Amino acid sequence: MEDPLKQSFLSEIGQVSSLQELLNIKARYIGKKGLLTEKIKGLGNLSTEDRKFYGKYYNELKNFIEELLKTKESELKQREIEHSLRKDIIDITLPGKDYYFGGCHPVNKTLIEIIKIFQELGFTVEEGPEVELDYYNFEALNIPKNHPARDMQDTFYVSEEVVLRTHTSPVQVRVMEKKKPPLRFISPGKVYRCDSDVTHTPMFHQVEGLMVDEDVSFSHLKGVLVYFLERLFGENTPVRFRPSFFPFTEPSTEIDIGCIICGAKGCRVCKGTGWLEVLGAGMVHPNVFRFAGYPEGKYTGFAFGMGVERLTMLKYGIDDIRLFFENDIRFLRQF
Ligand code: FA5
Repeated sequence: MEDPLKQSFLSEIGQVSSLQELLNIKARYIGKKGLLTEKIKGLGNLSTEDRKFYGKYYNELKNFIEELLKTKESELKQREIEHSLRKDIIDITLPGKDYYFGGCHPVNKTLIEIIKIFQELGFTVEEGPEVELDYYNFEALNIPKNHPARDMQDTFYVSEEVVLRTHTSPVQVRVMEKKKPPLRFISPGKVYRCDSDVTHTPMFHQVEGLMVDEDVSFSHLKGVLVYFLERLFGENTPVRFRPSFFPFTEPSTEIDIGCIICGAKGCRVCKGTGWLEVLGAGMVHPNVFRFAGYPEGKYTGFAFGMGVERLTMLKYGIDDIRLFFENDIRFLRQF
């Protein structure tokens, strides 16, 4: 009759399917407290004859078990290797992954172009904070508290004295406080207004410009801005100056270009007038120089400000400003 220990071992090893199970079987039979180990330890209690007989038998059984465990182990290892090879197989016939390249946002494209044109004219670039003191955003620009001109811009107030800047004009004063003329810089950046429709968004970009020296005149303003608009929109773009009002410039002007959508004939975009407003500008108001701490009457200068989204819409014929902020890759790829 077959030894029940050997039989149960053979049945267990016949069903083993993982290396861990194999280790468990090994421990159960020939481990420190294994079934066969216990039997070998008990040999001392047997008679001399039985000890001889069972000693030999258990030894052979142990060798048999060890041999079988080893064979099974290499079999299982081989099976695991084959399994992982099958699992991690790379199908080289599949198409490769497509790379999607980003593109320069159209607003950034225009911004870069504007900066380049002014840099070529010798303007430097200055920056100011987007969370701004009421003082720089309004007061130092000749717009005292309760002045009706504050209604020209719908302001996000952070607190009584702090606002999200409504325009880039506060950078004029911040720079003039630190630097003496001659000054010639632009200041691009984000500005915020409580405003939203097809031509207005709550956040948009402006580029401010300021040139101050002892003899800066309106003709400098005109020369620089006409040159700039012709560079941006093409050499024969019609440009006109209209009288306007800004508290921080006197005289003030708004500058229009001939509608590039309809060739100045009159359309929906230019509301039938043939003209599009693109810039606000003027000669720096003496009160602003006073706030900046400049000596009375010594300097003159011109300032201007433009909306970058507005210019980008005109340049590329886009009729809804909100498209710039949706980040739809199908829209952005076209530029
Ligand atoms: C100003 O902000 C003045 N600081 C410009 C200026 C600077 C005048 C220096 C004189 C001297 P205005 O509020 O008109 O002006 O805004 C300038 C431009 O910003 C507008 O022509 C328009 O293109 C753009 N703009 C205004 N509101 C919005 C808005 N909600 N969304 C997008 N663009 C806007």
